[in-house]
Amino acid sequence: MKIAVLPGDGIGPEIVAQAVKVLKALNIGLEMEEAPIGGAGYEAAGDPLPEATLKLAKEADAVLLGAVGDWKYDTLPRDKRPERGLLRIRKELSLFANLRPALLYPELASASTLKPEVVSGLDIMIVRELTGDIYFGQPRGISTLENGEREGINTMRYNESEIKRIGRVAFEIAMKRNKKVCSVDKANVLETTELWRQVMIELSKEYPEVELSHMYVDNAAMQLVRAPKQFDVMVTGNIFGDILSDEASMLTGSIGMLPSASLDANNKGMYEPSHGSAPDIAGKDVANPLATILSAAMMLRYTFNDEANATRIEDAVKKALAQGYRTADIYTDGCNKVGCNAMGDAVVAAL
Ligand code: NAD
Ligand code: IPM
Ligand code: MN
Repeated sequence: MKIAVLPGDGIGPEIVAQAVKVLKALNIGLEMEEAPIGGAGYEAAGDPLPEATLKLAKEADAVLLGAVGDWKYDTLPRDKRPERGLLRIRKELSLFANLRPALLYPELASASTLKPEVVSGLDIMIVRELTGDIYFGQPRGISTLENGEREGINTMRYNESEIKRIGRVAFEIAMKRNKKVCSVDKANVLETTELWRQVMIELSKEYPEVELSHMYVDNAAMQLVRAPKQFDVMVTGNIFGDILSDEASMLTGSIGMLPSASLDANNKGMYEPSHGSAPDIAGKDVANPLATILSAAMMLRYTFNDEANATRIEDAVKKALAQGYRTADIYTDGCNKVGCNAMGDAVVAAL
């Protein structure tokens, strides 16, 4: 069982070190090899996804990623920027299904900016399509018009098979949960998502036990903070899923709590927190490593079929929270404020 470990930039190395520590503490013979990606890849090899890093990721059974990006790279040509490295590895590994579970640990009910009664018991699975949509659609670019002014172009597009395969992932997950899928689109305005809605309806015929509903993305953004517990599984495209999952993360107390799994058709996967490289707090040992640690648990569950050890990690996180350990982003009065490294230690101790 080989894991490619790609710490990336900003808080990436700090949070990945905690997840690696937890995986090692399990003592289950995982082999891990590190490689640079993002800004670190650019510094090492002039490429945000160096050839050797991609090769390692392809050979490994799973990838553990921290985060990429830093403001200092924002003026580089687009294909040299850290974010492009992340998008390319997702595409190269065909990781079309991004699972982002927004789950509220009871201990954190008061850490959310929403009232505890609104979020308590929250358990939503956001299924975000990850290799299509406006992120990858052609044509794209910035060009100069005949009158000399500039124009920016991105293209939202999805074909039927791309919609169907992500829909299937959502329905299959719903079958193991509360059997409700809410498909989020903007079918009232965008043809791409009108097709999305049609395909979801056609696919739902194969899953008669699952209740399929549809919601426009603007309403979904509102409903997520009004009454989030109405949702079980949400399925949506790349850009809407990006935005809604950051919104949903705050229901769990902090973006530092939201893990993710990005899977291909065979459950080979890349596991990363949903948040970014947080350059504002990088190198200060204050970042919350739990989203990354919980992503490692997802790796054991989805790629290595090791439910027992995935649950062990999740239980250890619960225990560390119950013992009062909190990083700054989830701190509330009376708790024990710790740094990134000490939070990792608390989870290892709880294991
Ligand atoms: P961000 O998620 O990095 O940070 C947003 C805010 O949340 C910041 O205030 C940050 O301090 C806080 N935050 C994030 N993770 C945290 C954690 N684990 N613990 C405590 N606080 C945390 O988003 P941003 O500021 O918009 O982007 C910063 C950089 O990250 C950009 O270069 C962006 O492109 C990149 N990014 C990368 C990924 C990824 O690698 N998957 C995801 C999002 C953004
Ligand atoms: C995420 C990030 C990425 C995305 C960026 C950094 C390319 O925001 O993983 O959510 O938009 O997918
Ligand atoms: Mn995002």
